[in-house]
Amino acid sequence: MSCRVRSNHPSSTADFKEESTDDLARPDAQIEPLRRLLRTLASVGLFTLDGDRVTLEPIGATLSRNASDSLYGAAVMWMETHYVPFSDLLHTLRTGEPAATDYLGKPFFDWVNENPDRSGQFCDAMASITSGLCTGMFDHYQLPDGELIADIGGPAARSTTSDQGLNGQVEIIGGDFFDSVPTADIYVLSYILHDWHDAAAMRVLRSVPPRVGRELEC
Ligand SMILES: C[S@@+](CC[C@H](N)C(=O)[O-])C[C@H]1O[C@@H](n2cnc3c(N)ncnc32)[C@H](O)[C@@H]1O
Repeated sequence: MSCRVRSNHPSSTADFKEESTDDLARPDAQIEPLRRLLRTLASVGLFTLDGDRVTLEPIGATLSRNASDSLYGAAVMWMETHYVPFSDLLHTLRTGEPAATDYLGKPFFDWVNENPDRSGQFCDAMASITSGLCTGMFDHYQLPDGELIADIGGPAARSTTSDQGLNGQVEIIGGDFFDSVPTADIYVLSYILHDWHDAAAMRVLRSVPPRVGRELEC
């Protein structure tokens, strides 16, 4: 899927309904490997193939940057940031160290954040993933009482902040959540703890002031 969306042809953004394989191939893909890729993706429901005609299915449309349930960012990120370090998984089994640290030569988030393109891509992917995961999940959820919400490990930039009328009411505070977190009434840790082994996850939780005692993990 990453190859599909990374191809430079405008149709690779999945903004088409039906095309011929020839049209989809130009200008930067070889027709035969593209046919094979499309056949593979058709087998998991992204496209329907009828001879040379390729029809986009609803799940394939999520590869569009413009889809409301877009997974474009996630499709790009998994290939470029996760799959290759996964090849070093044996190192984790042997040493307990994350494979990404060994493969990339530094902790994963240091590697992501040292390059603005990479960290932008990571933010896009997280926006895709978390908005997909949260669909319907919080429809009737009420946050506990409190004025000030700290989104610990939240992305530095999210288009949804202005969409939700939060523009001007969001302050971005840098810091290391292993050391301390800003004071707030409610703490949100969205998609944070799974990144760490238990002792590290406990350090993150302990950095939340104990008197608050209100945490939400999703
Ligand atoms: C899996 S992402 C989740 C992002 C966001 N909360 C969401 O749900 O989309 C993990 C986040 O933790 C941040 N992070 C990793 N290590 C951190 C640290 N030591 N201190 C603060 N943030 C950190 C990363 O920059 C990244 O944004």
